[in-house]
Amino acid sequence: MREIQSEVCFLDSLQHFFIMDQLNREGFNSRFGLIAAAAGSAIGLGNVWRFPYVAGENGGGAFLLIYLGFVMAIGVPVMLSELIIGRKSQRNIFGAFHVLAPGKPWYLIGLMGVVAAFMILSFYAVVAGWTIEYLYLAISNSLAGKSSLELNQVFFDSTSGTFRPILMMVLFMFMSAFIVKSGVSKGIEKYSKMLMPLLLFIIVLLGIRSITLDGAMEGLVFLFKPDFSRITTKVVLEALGQSFFSLSLGMGVMATYGSYIKKGESLGRTAIYVSLADTMIAILAGVAIFPAVFAFGIEPASGPGLVFVTLPGIFNQMFGGYIFALFFFTLLVIAALTSSISLLEVIVAYFSEELKMKRPIATWWAAGSITILALFCANYSTLFSFFDKTSSNVLLPLGGLLIVVFAGWFMGRKSVRNELEADGKMARYFRFFVIVIKFIAPIAIAAVFLNQLGLLGWVKL
Ligand code: PHE
Repeated sequence: MREIQSEVCFLDSLQHFFIMDQLNREGFNSRFGLIAAAAGSAIGLGNVWRFPYVAGENGGGAFLLIYLGFVMAIGVPVMLSELIIGRKSQRNIFGAFHVLAPGKPWYLIGLMGVVAAFMILSFYAVVAGWTIEYLYLAISNSLAGKSSLELNQVFFDSTSGTFRPILMMVLFMFMSAFIVKSGVSKGIEKYSKMLMPLLLFIIVLLGIRSITLDGAMEGLVFLFKPDFSRITTKVVLEALGQSFFSLSLGMGVMATYGSYIKKGESLGRTAIYVSLADTMIAILAGVAIFPAVFAFGIEPASGPGLVFVTLPGIFNQMFGGYIFALFFFTLLVIAALTSSISLLEVIVAYFSEELKMKRPIATWWAAGSITILALFCANYSTLFSFFDKTSSNVLLPLGGLLIVVFAGWFMGRKSVRNELEADGKMARYFRFFVIVIKFIAPIAIAAVFLNQLGLLGWVKL
Protein backbone atom coordinates (compact mmCIF):
# COMPACT_ATOMS: atom_id res chain seq x y z
CA MET A 1 0.00 0.00 0.00
CA ARG A 2 2.71 2.39 1.04
CA GLU A 3 4.62 1.58 -2.13
CA ILE A 4 1.63 2.46 -4.22
CA GLN A 5 1.25 5.69 -2.33
CA SER A 6 4.81 6.72 -2.86
CA GLU A 7 4.52 5.88 -6.53
CA VAL A 8 1.44 8.07 -6.80
CA CYS A 9 3.35 10.79 -4.97
CA PHE A 10 6.24 10.50 -7.38
CA LEU A 11 3.95 10.65 -10.39
CA ASP A 12 2.21 13.67 -8.93
CA SER A 13 5.44 15.54 -8.48
CA LEU A 14 6.53 14.55 -11.96
CA GLN A 15 3.29 15.99 -13.30
CA HIS A 16 3.79 19.07 -11.22
CA PHE A 17 7.26 19.51 -12.65
CA PHE A 18 5.98 19.24 -16.22
CA ILE A 19 3.17 21.61 -15.51
CA MET A 20 5.40 24.20 -13.82
CA ASP A 21 7.61 24.00 -16.85
CA GLN A 22 4.69 25.29 -18.91
CA LEU A 23 3.34 27.91 -16.56
CA ASN A 24 4.54 30.88 -18.53
CA ARG A 25 2.25 29.92 -21.40
CA GLU A 26 -0.04 32.47 -22.90
CA GLY A 27 -3.75 32.31 -22.05
CA PHE A 28 -7.14 33.96 -22.33
CA ASN A 29 -7.32 37.27 -20.52
CA SER A 30 -11.00 37.60 -19.74
CA ARG A 31 -14.07 35.45 -19.15
CA PHE A 32 -15.93 36.94 -22.06
CA GLY A 33 -12.86 36.40 -24.21
CA LEU A 34 -12.58 32.74 -23.36
CA ILE A 35 -16.30 32.08 -23.88
CA ALA A 36 -16.21 34.00 -27.17
CA ALA A 37 -13.20 32.00 -28.35
CA ALA A 38 -14.62 28.60 -27.33
CA ALA A 39 -18.11 29.44 -28.60
CA GLY A 40 -16.44 30.86 -31.70
CA SER A 41 -14.84 27.49 -32.29
CA ALA A 42 -18.09 25.62 -31.75
CA ILE A 43 -20.26 28.00 -33.76
CA GLY A 44 -19.23 27.78 -37.35
CA LEU A 45 -20.08 26.31 -40.71
CA GLY A 46 -21.19 23.26 -38.74
CA ASN A 47 -24.16 25.26 -37.45
CA VAL A 48 -25.09 27.37 -40.41
CA TRP A 49 -24.05 25.20 -43.35
CA ARG A 50 -23.79 21.58 -42.14
CA PHE A 51 -26.58 21.34 -39.56
CA PRO A 52 -29.41 22.44 -41.88
CA TYR A 53 -28.43 20.14 -44.72
CA VAL A 54 -27.68 17.10 -42.54
CA ALA A 55 -30.97 17.66 -40.69
CA GLY A 56 -32.67 18.03 -44.07
CA GLU A 57 -31.22 14.76 -45.34
CA ASN A 58 -32.12 12.94 -42.13
CA GLY A 59 -35.73 13.86 -41.70
CA GLY A 60 -35.78 17.17 -39.79
CA GLY A 61 -37.57 17.03 -36.43
CA ALA A 62 -36.62 13.48 -35.48
CA PHE A 63 -32.99 14.26 -36.21
CA LEU A 64 -33.13 17.46 -34.16
CA LEU A 65 -34.51 15.62 -31.15
CA ILE A 66 -31.81 12.94 -31.18
CA TYR A 67 -29.20 15.61 -31.78
CA LEU A 68 -30.34 17.58 -28.71
CA GLY A 69 -30.27 14.41 -26.61
CA PHE A 70 -26.69 13.74 -27.67
CA VAL A 71 -25.59 17.31 -26.96
CA MET A 72 -26.85 17.07 -23.39
CA ALA A 73 -25.98 13.48 -22.52
CA ILE A 74 -22.67 13.20 -24.34
CA GLY A 75 -21.56 16.57 -25.72
CA VAL A 76 -21.44 18.53 -22.46
CA PRO A 77 -19.60 15.79 -20.50
CA VAL A 78 -17.09 15.26 -23.30
CA MET A 79 -16.47 19.00 -23.51
CA LEU A 80 -15.97 19.25 -19.77
CA SER A 81 -13.58 16.28 -19.81
CA GLU A 82 -11.54 17.96 -22.53
CA LEU A 83 -11.40 21.24 -20.64
CA ILE A 84 -10.23 19.35 -17.53
CA ILE A 85 -7.52 17.49 -19.43
CA GLY A 86 -6.31 20.71 -21.05
CA ARG A 87 -6.24 22.91 -18.00
CA LYS A 88 -4.70 20.30 -15.76
CA SER A 89 -1.92 19.46 -18.19
CA GLN A 90 -1.29 22.98 -19.52
CA ARG A 91 -0.29 21.46 -22.82
CA ASN A 92 -1.28 20.82 -26.40
CA ILE A 93 -3.46 17.74 -26.98
CA PHE A 94 -0.52 15.45 -27.67
CA GLY A 95 1.64 16.64 -24.78
CA ALA A 96 -1.35 16.63 -22.43
CA PHE A 97 -1.43 12.84 -22.34
CA HIS A 98 2.34 12.63 -21.94
CA VAL A 99 2.02 14.82 -18.86
CA LEU A 100 -1.07 13.16 -17.39
CA ALA A 101 -0.20 9.56 -18.28
CA PRO A 102 3.58 9.37 -18.79
CA GLY A 103 4.78 6.26 -20.55
CA LYS A 104 1.27 5.09 -21.46
CA PRO A 105 -0.21 4.90 -24.95
CA TRP A 106 -2.91 7.51 -24.25
CA TYR A 107 -0.95 10.06 -26.26
CA LEU A 108 -2.34 8.25 -29.32
CA ILE A 109 -5.59 10.10 -28.66
CA GLY A 110 -3.62 13.31 -29.05
CA LEU A 111 -2.07 12.09 -32.27
CA MET A 112 -5.48 11.19 -33.60
CA GLY A 113 -6.65 14.68 -32.67
CA VAL A 114 -3.87 16.32 -34.66
CA VAL A 115 -4.66 14.11 -37.67
CA ALA A 116 -8.36 14.98 -37.36
CA ALA A 117 -7.48 18.69 -37.26
CA PHE A 118 -5.64 18.32 -40.58
CA MET A 119 -8.53 16.42 -42.14
CA ILE A 120 -11.28 18.73 -40.97
CA LEU A 121 -9.50 21.93 -41.79
CA SER A 122 -8.67 20.80 -45.30
CA PHE A 123 -12.32 20.45 -46.32
CA TYR A 124 -13.50 23.22 -44.01
CA ALA A 125 -11.21 25.67 -45.76
CA VAL A 126 -12.77 24.75 -49.10
CA VAL A 127 -16.29 25.53 -47.88
CA ALA A 128 -14.97 28.67 -46.19
CA GLY A 129 -13.55 29.63 -49.59
CA TRP A 130 -17.07 29.35 -51.05
CA THR A 131 -18.29 31.74 -48.36
CA ILE A 132 -15.71 34.31 -49.44
CA GLU A 133 -16.76 33.86 -53.07
CA TYR A 134 -20.37 34.44 -52.04
CA LEU A 135 -19.40 37.50 -50.09
CA TYR A 136 -17.87 38.81 -53.28
CA LEU A 137 -21.01 37.92 -55.25
CA ALA A 138 -23.11 39.70 -52.63
CA ILE A 139 -20.97 42.83 -52.76
CA SER A 140 -21.11 42.93 -56.55
CA ASN A 141 -24.88 42.34 -56.36
CA SER A 142 -24.60 39.33 -58.67
CA LEU A 143 -27.14 37.26 -56.76
CA ALA A 144 -29.97 39.75 -57.05
CA GLY A 145 -33.05 38.89 -59.09
CA LYS A 146 -32.05 35.26 -59.70
CA SER A 147 -34.54 32.40 -59.60
CA SER A 148 -33.77 29.33 -57.51
CA LEU A 149 -32.76 27.47 -60.65
CA GLU A 150 -30.30 30.21 -61.55
CA LEU A 151 -28.99 30.28 -57.99
CA ASN A 152 -28.35 26.56 -58.24
CA GLN A 153 -26.31 27.22 -61.34
CA VAL A 154 -24.35 29.96 -59.57
CA PHE A 155 -23.52 27.51 -56.80
CA PHE A 156 -22.39 24.92 -59.29
CA ASP A 157 -20.25 27.44 -61.19
CA SER A 158 -18.61 28.90 -58.11
CA THR A 159 -17.67 25.58 -56.57
CA SER A 160 -16.63 23.58 -59.58
CA GLY A 161 -14.13 25.84 -61.30
CA THR A 162 -10.44 25.31 -60.63
CA PHE A 163 -8.96 28.73 -60.19
CA ARG A 164 -11.38 30.71 -58.05
CA PRO A 165 -12.35 28.11 -55.43
CA ILE A 166 -8.65 27.51 -54.83
CA LEU A 167 -7.84 31.20 -54.70
CA MET A 168 -10.58 31.79 -52.13
CA MET A 169 -9.50 28.81 -50.06
CA VAL A 170 -5.91 30.06 -50.00
CA LEU A 171 -7.11 33.52 -49.01
CA PHE A 172 -9.10 32.02 -46.17
CA MET A 173 -6.17 29.96 -44.90
CA PHE A 174 -4.04 33.07 -45.01
CA MET A 175 -6.53 34.97 -42.85
CA SER A 176 -6.69 32.12 -40.33
CA ALA A 177 -2.93 31.88 -40.14
CA PHE A 178 -2.63 35.61 -39.68
CA ILE A 179 -4.83 35.51 -36.56
CA VAL A 180 -3.26 32.38 -35.08
CA LYS A 181 0.29 33.58 -35.51
CA SER A 182 -0.55 36.68 -33.45
CA GLY A 183 -1.10 34.51 -30.39
CA VAL A 184 -3.83 33.33 -28.06
CA SER A 185 -4.91 36.60 -26.48
CA LYS A 186 -3.74 39.04 -29.15
CA GLY A 187 -5.04 36.91 -32.00
CA ILE A 188 -7.69 34.31 -31.18
CA GLU A 189 -9.28 36.05 -28.19
CA LYS A 190 -9.20 39.53 -29.67
CA TYR A 191 -10.90 38.58 -32.93
CA SER A 192 -13.46 36.26 -31.32
CA LYS A 193 -14.57 39.02 -28.96
CA MET A 194 -15.28 41.33 -31.85
CA LEU A 195 -16.83 38.87 -34.25
CA MET A 196 -19.14 36.65 -32.20
CA PRO A 197 -21.66 39.27 -30.98
CA LEU A 198 -22.06 40.46 -34.55
CA LEU A 199 -22.82 36.93 -35.71
CA LEU A 200 -25.57 36.52 -33.13
CA PHE A 201 -27.22 39.78 -34.09
CA ILE A 202 -27.42 38.93 -37.78
CA ILE A 203 -28.65 35.39 -37.37
CA VAL A 204 -31.52 36.54 -35.13
CA LEU A 205 -32.46 39.13 -37.71
CA LEU A 206 -32.45 36.57 -40.51
CA GLY A 207 -34.53 34.12 -38.47
CA ILE A 208 -37.17 36.76 -37.91
CA ARG A 209 -37.31 37.58 -41.59
CA SER A 210 -37.52 33.95 -42.62
CA ILE A 211 -40.44 32.99 -40.36
CA THR A 212 -42.45 35.89 -41.66
CA LEU A 213 -42.29 34.55 -45.23
CA ASP A 214 -45.46 33.12 -46.76
CA GLY A 215 -45.52 29.37 -46.30
CA ALA A 216 -42.97 29.47 -43.48
CA MET A 217 -45.03 27.22 -41.26
CA GLU A 218 -44.27 24.11 -43.29
CA GLY A 219 -40.56 24.63 -42.69
CA LEU A 220 -41.00 25.04 -38.96
CA VAL A 221 -43.09 21.88 -38.85
CA PHE A 222 -40.35 20.02 -40.72
CA LEU A 223 -37.73 21.24 -38.25
CA PHE A 224 -39.64 20.83 -35.00
CA LYS A 225 -42.17 18.05 -35.51
CA PRO A 226 -40.46 14.69 -35.10
CA ASP A 227 -41.53 11.99 -37.50
CA PHE A 228 -40.31 8.91 -35.64
CA SER A 229 -40.73 6.67 -38.64
CA ARG A 230 -37.70 8.39 -40.15
CA ILE A 231 -35.30 7.30 -37.41
CA THR A 232 -32.78 4.75 -38.66
CA THR A 233 -29.34 3.73 -37.41
CA LYS A 234 -27.86 6.08 -39.99
CA VAL A 235 -29.88 9.01 -38.62
CA VAL A 236 -28.66 8.24 -35.09
CA LEU A 237 -25.01 8.06 -36.17
CA GLU A 238 -25.31 11.25 -38.20
CA ALA A 239 -26.83 13.02 -35.19
CA LEU A 240 -23.96 11.86 -32.99
CA GLY A 241 -21.41 12.92 -35.60
CA GLN A 242 -23.08 16.30 -36.02
CA SER A 243 -23.11 16.92 -32.26
CA PHE A 244 -19.37 16.24 -32.03
CA PHE A 245 -18.58 18.27 -35.09
CA SER A 246 -20.71 21.21 -34.05
CA LEU A 247 -19.37 21.36 -30.50
CA SER A 248 -15.76 20.97 -31.74
CA LEU A 249 -15.31 17.81 -29.69
CA GLY A 250 -13.19 14.71 -29.76
CA MET A 251 -10.01 16.06 -31.31
CA GLY A 252 -8.47 18.42 -28.82
CA VAL A 253 -9.80 21.88 -29.64
CA MET A 254 -11.51 22.21 -26.26
CA ALA A 255 -8.54 20.63 -24.48
CA THR A 256 -6.17 23.08 -26.15
CA TYR A 257 -8.42 26.03 -25.33
CA GLY A 258 -8.86 24.59 -21.82
CA SER A 259 -5.12 24.80 -21.37
CA TYR A 260 -5.39 28.58 -21.85
CA ILE A 261 -8.10 29.03 -19.19
CA LYS A 262 -7.09 30.53 -15.85
CA LYS A 263 -7.56 28.50 -12.66
CA GLY A 264 -10.14 30.93 -11.30
CA GLU A 265 -12.60 30.20 -14.09
CA SER A 266 -15.30 27.57 -13.73
CA LEU A 267 -14.93 24.85 -16.35
CA GLY A 268 -18.47 23.57 -15.71
CA ARG A 269 -19.95 26.95 -16.49
CA THR A 270 -17.77 27.30 -19.57
CA ALA A 271 -18.94 23.95 -20.97
CA ILE A 272 -22.60 24.79 -20.35
CA TYR A 273 -22.41 28.29 -21.87
CA VAL A 274 -20.55 27.12 -24.94
CA SER A 275 -22.89 24.17 -25.57
CA LEU A 276 -25.96 26.33 -25.08
CA ALA A 277 -24.68 29.03 -27.41
CA ASP A 278 -23.79 26.47 -30.05
CA THR A 279 -27.16 24.72 -29.88
CA MET A 280 -29.03 27.99 -29.94
CA ILE A 281 -27.24 29.13 -33.08
CA ALA A 282 -27.81 25.78 -34.83
CA ILE A 283 -31.54 25.99 -34.11
CA LEU A 284 -31.62 29.64 -35.18
CA ALA A 285 -29.91 28.66 -38.42
CA GLY A 286 -32.56 25.97 -38.94
CA VAL A 287 -35.27 28.54 -38.25
CA ALA A 288 -33.67 30.94 -40.72
CA ILE A 289 -33.30 28.31 -43.42
CA PHE A 290 -36.13 25.73 -43.42
CA PRO A 291 -39.05 28.16 -43.72
CA ALA A 292 -37.24 29.67 -46.71
CA VAL A 293 -36.56 26.22 -48.16
CA PHE A 294 -40.25 25.41 -48.12
CA ALA A 295 -41.35 28.86 -49.21
CA PHE A 296 -39.11 28.41 -52.26
CA GLY A 297 -40.14 24.85 -52.95
CA ILE A 298 -36.57 23.55 -52.62
CA GLU A 299 -35.83 19.95 -51.55
CA PRO A 300 -34.79 20.07 -47.86
CA ALA A 301 -32.47 17.15 -48.58
CA SER A 302 -30.61 19.02 -51.29
CA GLY A 303 -27.21 18.58 -49.63
CA PRO A 304 -24.23 20.87 -49.08
CA GLY A 305 -25.54 23.54 -51.47
CA LEU A 306 -28.56 24.23 -49.26
CA VAL A 307 -27.54 27.54 -47.64
CA PHE A 308 -25.76 28.83 -50.70
CA VAL A 309 -28.85 28.42 -52.81
CA THR A 310 -31.72 29.16 -50.45
CA LEU A 311 -30.44 32.15 -48.52
CA PRO A 312 -29.71 34.32 -51.55
CA GLY A 313 -33.28 33.46 -52.52
CA ILE A 314 -34.63 34.97 -49.29
CA PHE A 315 -32.49 38.04 -49.71
CA ASN A 316 -34.00 38.60 -53.13
CA GLN A 317 -37.44 38.78 -51.56
CA MET A 318 -36.44 41.09 -48.77
CA PHE A 319 -36.54 44.78 -48.39
CA GLY A 320 -32.87 45.76 -48.03
CA GLY A 321 -31.86 42.32 -49.29
CA TYR A 322 -28.58 43.63 -50.65
CA ILE A 323 -27.44 44.69 -47.20
CA PHE A 324 -28.66 41.46 -45.62
CA ALA A 325 -26.84 39.33 -48.15
CA LEU A 326 -23.72 41.33 -47.49
CA PHE A 327 -24.07 40.92 -43.75
CA PHE A 328 -24.92 37.27 -43.96
CA PHE A 329 -21.95 36.24 -46.03
CA THR A 330 -19.62 38.42 -44.02
CA LEU A 331 -20.84 36.59 -40.98
CA LEU A 332 -20.54 33.19 -42.58
CA VAL A 333 -16.91 34.02 -43.28
CA ILE A 334 -16.51 35.10 -39.66
CA ALA A 335 -18.14 31.95 -38.30
CA ALA A 336 -15.81 29.88 -40.44
CA LEU A 337 -12.82 31.91 -39.36
CA THR A 338 -13.33 31.61 -35.59
CA SER A 339 -13.68 27.84 -36.01
CA SER A 340 -10.78 27.39 -38.35
CA ILE A 341 -8.43 29.26 -36.04
CA SER A 342 -9.27 26.76 -33.30
CA LEU A 343 -8.46 23.85 -35.59
CA LEU A 344 -5.24 25.49 -36.63
CA GLU A 345 -4.37 26.21 -33.00
CA VAL A 346 -4.50 22.48 -32.16
CA ILE A 347 -1.75 21.88 -34.71
CA VAL A 348 0.21 25.04 -33.93
CA ALA A 349 0.23 24.31 -30.19
CA TYR A 350 1.47 20.81 -31.00
CA PHE A 351 4.16 22.00 -33.40
CA SER A 352 5.40 24.73 -31.11
CA GLU A 353 5.39 22.80 -27.84
CA GLU A 354 6.39 19.35 -29.00
CA LEU A 355 8.53 20.13 -32.02
CA LYS A 356 9.81 23.35 -30.41
CA MET A 357 9.04 25.56 -33.38
CA LYS A 358 8.52 29.30 -32.93
CA ARG A 359 4.85 30.20 -33.08
CA PRO A 360 4.85 32.07 -36.42
CA ILE A 361 6.91 29.35 -38.07
CA ALA A 362 4.67 26.63 -36.66
CA THR A 363 1.66 28.55 -37.97
CA TRP A 364 2.94 28.90 -41.52
CA TRP A 365 4.00 25.25 -41.66
CA ALA A 366 0.62 24.08 -40.42
CA ALA A 367 -1.38 26.42 -42.65
CA GLY A 368 0.85 25.65 -45.64
CA SER A 369 0.48 21.90 -45.38
CA ILE A 370 -3.27 22.15 -44.87
CA THR A 371 -3.55 24.35 -47.94
CA ILE A 372 -1.86 21.63 -49.98
CA LEU A 373 -4.23 18.97 -48.62
CA ALA A 374 -7.17 21.28 -49.26
CA LEU A 375 -6.19 21.51 -52.93
CA PHE A 376 -7.25 17.88 -53.21
CA CYS A 377 -10.56 18.66 -51.52
CA ALA A 378 -11.37 21.61 -53.77
CA ASN A 379 -13.83 20.93 -56.56
CA TYR A 380 -15.83 19.09 -54.02
CA SER A 381 -14.04 15.84 -54.68
CA THR A 382 -14.50 12.42 -53.09
CA LEU A 383 -11.68 13.25 -50.70
CA PHE A 384 -13.86 16.11 -49.47
CA SER A 385 -16.74 13.86 -48.41
CA PHE A 386 -14.36 11.18 -47.20
CA PHE A 387 -12.68 13.67 -44.84
CA ASP A 388 -16.03 15.13 -43.80
CA LYS A 389 -17.74 11.82 -43.03
CA THR A 390 -14.71 10.03 -41.55
CA SER A 391 -13.84 12.85 -39.20
CA SER A 392 -17.38 13.56 -37.97
CA ASN A 393 -18.76 10.06 -37.85
CA VAL A 394 -15.66 8.10 -36.83
CA LEU A 395 -12.66 10.06 -35.53
CA LEU A 396 -14.49 12.59 -33.37
CA PRO A 397 -16.84 10.14 -31.59
CA LEU A 398 -13.95 7.70 -31.14
CA GLY A 399 -11.76 10.49 -29.75
CA GLY A 400 -14.63 11.55 -27.48
CA LEU A 401 -15.10 8.00 -26.25
CA LEU A 402 -11.43 7.65 -25.34
CA ILE A 403 -11.36 11.09 -23.73
CA VAL A 404 -14.25 10.37 -21.34
CA VAL A 405 -12.82 6.96 -20.55
CA PHE A 406 -9.49 8.60 -19.76
CA ALA A 407 -11.05 11.29 -17.56
CA GLY A 408 -13.48 8.88 -15.91
CA TRP A 409 -11.29 5.86 -15.29
CA PHE A 410 -7.65 6.96 -15.39
CA MET A 411 -7.27 10.52 -14.22
CA GLY A 412 -8.39 9.86 -10.70
CA ARG A 413 -11.44 11.31 -8.98
CA LYS A 414 -9.34 13.71 -6.98
CA SER A 415 -7.62 15.44 -9.83
CA VAL A 416 -10.85 15.70 -11.78
CA ARG A 417 -12.58 17.20 -8.77
CA ASN A 418 -9.71 19.61 -8.07
CA GLU A 419 -9.89 20.90 -11.61
CA LEU A 420 -13.67 21.37 -11.44
CA GLU A 421 -13.40 23.21 -8.15
CA ALA A 422 -10.31 25.26 -8.92
CA ASP A 423 -12.47 28.39 -8.93
CA GLY A 424 -13.10 27.85 -5.22
CA LYS A 425 -16.73 26.75 -5.62
CA MET A 426 -18.16 23.32 -4.89
CA ALA A 427 -19.00 21.33 -7.99
CA ARG A 428 -22.30 19.88 -6.75
CA TYR A 429 -22.83 17.99 -9.94
CA PHE A 430 -19.54 16.10 -9.43
CA ARG A 431 -20.96 12.65 -8.61
CA PHE A 432 -23.41 12.83 -11.43
CA PHE A 433 -20.66 13.94 -13.81
CA VAL A 434 -18.46 11.00 -12.81
CA ILE A 435 -21.28 8.54 -13.46
CA VAL A 436 -21.86 10.09 -16.86
CA ILE A 437 -18.23 10.01 -17.97
CA LYS A 438 -17.58 6.57 -16.53
CA PHE A 439 -20.66 4.81 -17.84
CA ILE A 440 -23.36 6.70 -19.67
CA ALA A 441 -21.34 8.60 -22.29
CA PRO A 442 -18.94 5.76 -23.20
CA ILE A 443 -21.73 3.19 -23.39
CA ALA A 444 -23.90 5.50 -25.49
CA ILE A 445 -21.10 6.27 -27.96
CA ALA A 446 -20.05 2.62 -28.18
CA ALA A 447 -23.66 1.56 -28.72
CA VAL A 448 -24.09 3.95 -31.63
CA PHE A 449 -20.88 2.63 -33.18
CA LEU A 450 -21.71 -1.03 -32.73
CA ASN A 451 -25.18 -0.47 -33.96
CA GLN A 452 -23.87 1.15 -37.10
CA LEU A 453 -21.60 -1.83 -37.65
CA GLY A 454 -24.68 -4.01 -37.39
CA LEU A 455 -23.44 -5.67 -34.22
CA LEU A 456 -26.46 -4.75 -32.17
CA GLY A 457 -29.04 -6.16 -34.51
CA TRP A 458 -31.37 -6.96 -31.65
CA VAL A 459 -31.74 -3.32 -30.67
CA LYS A 460 -34.60 -2.05 -32.80
CA LEU A 461 -34.06 1.52 -33.85
N1 PHE B 1 -17.49 23.29 -34.55
C1 PHE B 1 -17.13 23.82 -35.82
C2 PHE B 1 -18.37 24.18 -36.60
O1 PHE B 1 -19.45 23.93 -36.17
C3 PHE B 1 -16.26 22.89 -36.62
C4 PHE B 1 -15.16 22.27 -35.85
C5 PHE B 1 -15.11 20.90 -35.69
C6 PHE B 1 -14.20 23.08 -35.27
C7 PHE B 1 -14.12 20.31 -34.93
C8 PHE B 1 -13.20 22.51 -34.51
C9 PHE B 1 -13.18 21.12 -34.35
O2 PHE B 1 -18.28 24.71 -37.66
